[in-house]
Order: sequence, then structure tokens, then C-alpha cells
Amino acid sequence: ISLGIDLGTSELKTVLLDSSGAVRGQASVRLDVSRPQAGWSEQHPQDWWQACVQALGQLRASFPEQFSAIACIGLSGQMHGAVLLDASDDCIRPAILWNDARAHLEAAELAEQYPQFAAVTGSLAMAGLTAPKLLWLKKHEPSAFAAVACLLSPKDYLRLMLTGQKITDMSDAAGTLWLDEPARAWYAPMVATTGLRPEQLPPLVEGDAATGTVLPAVAEQLGLPGNVMVAGGGGDNPVSAVGIGAVNASDSFISLGTSAAIVSVTEQPLGNPDGGVHSFCHALPGRWYAMGAILSGASCLRWATGVLGQKNEAALLELIEATIPLQQAVASNAPLFLPYLSGERTPHNDPQVRGAFLQLGHESNTAQMGYAVLEGVAFALRDAMAAVTSTGATVPHCMLVGGGARSQYWAQLLANVLGVEMRTLHDSELSASIGAAKLGFAAIGDTSLLTQGLAIKNTFAPDIAQHAALNVRYGKYRRLFPAVQALHQ
Ligand code: XUL
Repeated sequence: ISLGIDLGTSELKTVLLDSSGAVRGQASVRLDVSRPQAGWSEQHPQDWWQACVQALGQLRASFPEQFSAIACIGLSGQMHGAVLLDASDDCIRPAILWNDARAHLEAAELAEQYPQFAAVTGSLAMAGLTAPKLLWLKKHEPSAFAAVACLLSPKDYLRLMLTGQKITDMSDAAGTLWLDEPARAWYAPMVATTGLRPEQLPPLVEGDAATGTVLPAVAEQLGLPGNVMVAGGGGDNPVSAVGIGAVNASDSFISLGTSAAIVSVTEQPLGNPDGGVHSFCHALPGRWYAMGAILSGASCLRWATGVLGQKNEAALLELIEATIPLQQAVASNAPLFLPYLSGERTPHNDPQVRGAFLQLGHESNTAQMGYAVLEGVAFALRDAMAAVTSTGATVPHCMLVGGGARSQYWAQLLANVLGVEMRTLHDSELSASIGAAKLGFAAIGDTSLLTQGLAIKNTFAPDIAQHAALNVRYGKYRRLFPAVQALHQ
């Protein structure tokens, strides 16, 4: 049995996977985000560890037989967060997360001063990535900055607690902006621009490498068997890719969670940093991926559910489906929605832009506004897909994972907007923890699951007539960005 742990933003999820790839147990624990100031987003790494201990306790109680057969662990985690450790490996302050926009000035500074670095680091400097956060810290919390002995990505803190080792993997390192993506090595000139020394960054391994066994005292505390090996693991998007079998060139998926991303696997780093694309190392050696990341995905639906006074997301979706069949969506005269509730990464790289409803009329109702939200997220993903394919990466068809994949209506709308077949998968809400567990097996020499995908649940072929009609609305959507951007400049 391999234990997969996915440290998300709203939840820590665990699975017990057997060597045939079957899920034999699962447990999750919710996590809270603290927002001490507008645009800030923090979590305390100790809360991650507590959640991990709690989830493992649940697994042990519910699946004692499988739990005692755990031979390896794989880790997946939210990317781009800054975990700051002092010389005794204690956390200096709460971690600054991927959706924290405080470092927007520092990101703009880095992008302006070192434009040539983007081709090496796989991305423009953006506020959500790790490096600008350290520049912010240096300026605003100099004593915290001075105390930093080591910087880890979020899931690497769990590894430290489990094994005592400070190590990161290529795919999480890729999201820091300090990695030379083609070389899969730290990029010293970029490290220097943030006032750091290379020895403050942890050693790098591939996602399927062995990084050390669980410490005996920790194994005892958790009730784990002896000598459980922990794999390198990786960032949640690349590890999800491993979970669903997206490991070869052109394998593509959309992850529609709190944020959303469209990913296409590549055999080389294919860049278009100016288009806001991230060209990052995959969690497997010799692979990269091109990703367009949008900051508000299914979180737009959650927001709309609240402001439109609906009981929950399912209730709003039901109302939309009952009122606006997809065949009539374009003719329904719904407003347009821009989903930039927390700014945007791909393609706009603007953490300060905000969303909008446009073309409201007296006749605009809850269902139309709800529809507009689903469509606006789909349009943002179309922008992100265009950025991804501009690198030469291709999206022949697209798997759909994450909480948003539960809605067949949204899946069909995405197919219609993108003009690409969408495929939903069984167990896809566990894709990152399953991928982590597969990397766990690989670290103890069993690579047989790495190319195995998840069973297809449904396919959604694009409706050509709707695609053409939605193109017209997408054209209008495209024209609105400069107007909302001008509002904060
Ligand atoms: C990817 C990104 C998010 C986080 C969310 O670039 O920022 O997907 O990894 O967990």
C-alpha cells in the first residue's frame, strides 16, 4: 500500500492506494486560510502537520489492515507557497500562499529588471510565485528575512516532519522562480536577485525519487510500520497529472478547483512567458508542461452562490440548468461575467484587476447571472488555453478534474467554449493524492502505475453550432479586459 497525501489550500486529502492502482481508503481534513490584510493569504505549517496527523489517525481507525501495510508515501501540495524556517527548523512566520498578492510591486520590479530570466525560470515574475514574496519580506519584515535558514514549498514541510529531511522536488521548485527549468537545477543568478544564498534552498530530487524513511519516533506516533519510504512528490498540478496518467506529450487536462489551470504535457520546456504561461518541470524526469493558471475557478461559483442567496452550489447549478438549457444559452441574453475576483495570472498577469458583471438589464435574473459566472470562467480558461497552445503545446482533448468536474453542465459548456472534447474521470477529485501515492510506489521501485490513467466517466463533445455562437460572446469578453484594468491604474 502507498499513502498519498495532498496538501491543498482548503483541505488535506489522503488515500491508500494498492499496487493495482485501486483506492483502498481515504480521509480528509479541512484547512482554513487566514487573510490578515486584503490580498494576503496565509496558513501556518504547523496546522498542515496537525491536519496530516489527524487524517492519518482517521485512516488508521477506518482502514487498519491497509494502514499497517503502508510501504511508502508520496506528497503533493499547493504550489508557490513560502515556508520560512530558521536555523532550528522552526517556522519564522506563517507561510505566504500561492494566492497572496502582497508582492505585486516586487514581482513587477523583478520582471522589469530581469526580463531575460523568464525564459530560464519558465515564467514571468508574478506576485503569486515564491521569489517576489521573499523580496517583499526583505523589505517589510527584515528581521524575519534575516532569520531564514531554509525555504521550503508547502508539502516539503510535511516531509521535514515525517523524515527530518529538508528536500524539495523539481516540480515544486519549478514554481518558485528560482529554478533553471531546462537544466532542472537552481538558477543562481535568480536566487541572488532576491538576496538569498544558494545554500538557503534545499537539495533537489525528481518526484519519483526516494528521499528518506519516516523517523522511528514519528512512525510510532502515527502508528506506521517501520522504514516507510517518502518519495520526492510534487506540486498539485503536476502530481494530479501523474494521478490521471497525463505523462506524455500533448496529454492535457483542466483542473477546476478553487483556482483553475489548463495543462499540456511537453517533452521540452516550451515557453511563452510574455503570454503568462508557466513552463514548468513535470513531477517525472525528462518531462515538462505548459500551464495557464487562472486564480478564480470554482471559487467564482461559490462566491455567486453566496451573493445570489442560493443554498449551495448544487442548488444554483440546478436553477441554471432548469432555466437555461445549453442549446439556448447564447440566445438567453445573459450578462457577461469577468472572473477576476482575486486578480489574474494567465494571460494578464495582473493581481489587482477585479471582476465584473456587464450588460445587466431589468430582466437579468439569478439563473442568467449564475450562467454568466460559469461561462466567464470558461472564457478565462479559453484565454489560458490560447496562451498554452501559443507555445506549441497542443490540447487535442482535455480531461477535467477538481470539484468543478462534478457538474456535467459546466463540462459541456467548457467543451462548447473551448471547442475541445472534455472527459471526466472516476475518482478525479482524488487525482493529486492518487498521483502522490503512485510516486510513492515509484520511489520503492514499482513504476508500473505511472502510465495508468483513471477510468473515463463521461465524454463531452463540443457542439459546433454553440461553439460558433459562443465565439461571438467570447469576442466581447476579450474586449472588456482593458476597461476593467483601466479602473485600477
Ligand atoms: C498553480 C497554482 C495553484 C496552486 C493551488 O500555479 O497556483 O494551482 O497550486 O493549489
